[in-house]
Amino acid sequence: MKAYFNGKFISEDKVFISPFDRGFQFADGAYEVVRLYSGKLFKLDDHFERLERSLKELKIKVPDLKEIRKAVYQLINDNNLTDAHALAYIQVTRGMFLPRQHWFPPNHIQPTVYISTSLFTPHNKEIENGVKVLLENDIRWSRCDIKSIALLPNVLGRQKAIESNAYETIWVRNDFIMEGTHTNFCGIKNGKLITPPLSNFILAGITRKVVVQICDSLGIPVYEEPIKKQDVEIFDECMIVGTTVDVTPIIQINDWKVGDGIPGPFTREIQNEFFKLVMSDE
Ligand code: PDD
Repeated sequence: MKAYFNGKFISEDKVFISPFDRGFQFADGAYEVVRLYSGKLFKLDDHFERLERSLKELKIKVPDLKEIRKAVYQLINDNNLTDAHALAYIQVTRGMFLPRQHWFPPNHIQPTVYISTSLFTPHNKEIENGVKVLLENDIRWSRCDIKSIALLPNVLGRQKAIESNAYETIWVRNDFIMEGTHTNFCGIKNGKLITPPLSNFILAGITRKVVVQICDSLGIPVYEEPIKKQDVEIFDECMIVGTTVDVTPIIQINDWKVGDGIPGPFTREIQNEFFKLVMSDE
């Protein structure tokens, strides 16, 4: 497939990053992952808004976002993804500079921009049957609202889940549920949806926002409020939501079986609305 790299469209195996790129040396950059449903980009504006915010918070020069947006569309065309289930990956780093130094390089350094697309197989089995998740102490930094490419804790958390025959790890900070390694967390109690409030400790997930809107339209009350780790067992249903997991039911948290151990009716209703929306949106 073709990729976009600093203004050029080239074969993805011909993209080479300098070892002096600050993304390589310091994970000094931000990214977005956007979903294509049958070739249609889902919530692209929200992803661009969040990318711009992340870059501004990191004081990285914001590249021409109109050009990046055009490049995303061109890649979809050039890579024949106009009917495909796929992902677009957009990464911006502070750019290349040597010698290695922690402080910012001079102002004339241009950010490195990389965009790729790939086919994506929806996780239908998990979406249908539900998944097991682990609870682990959050070992990440305290700016998880920034979609930084520094993902080592997330890598370790997800790996631990996989090694434990689970699908996701949910981070717990000071005894409160935060979010997953690549997902947000929602629970259902007595017909209400409860999800941790936005803060510097979680990503403002775009799927989370869509799920909140869906609940509003369905008349399901939403409470964005802290969830104590020991209180997860009050939930009738739980789910993880995110660009790559859509709305995926959680049927087990550590050794505790959620509800009847099968996806519940509220999760199913939200899923139905979600899949209607992704096919009709934009
Ligand atoms: N991850 N929380 C974290 C830590 C994430 O990395 C993600 C997304 C989410 C869900 O956000 P959204 O609904 O906007 O995708 C929540 C992407 C998909 C990734 O790292 O691959």
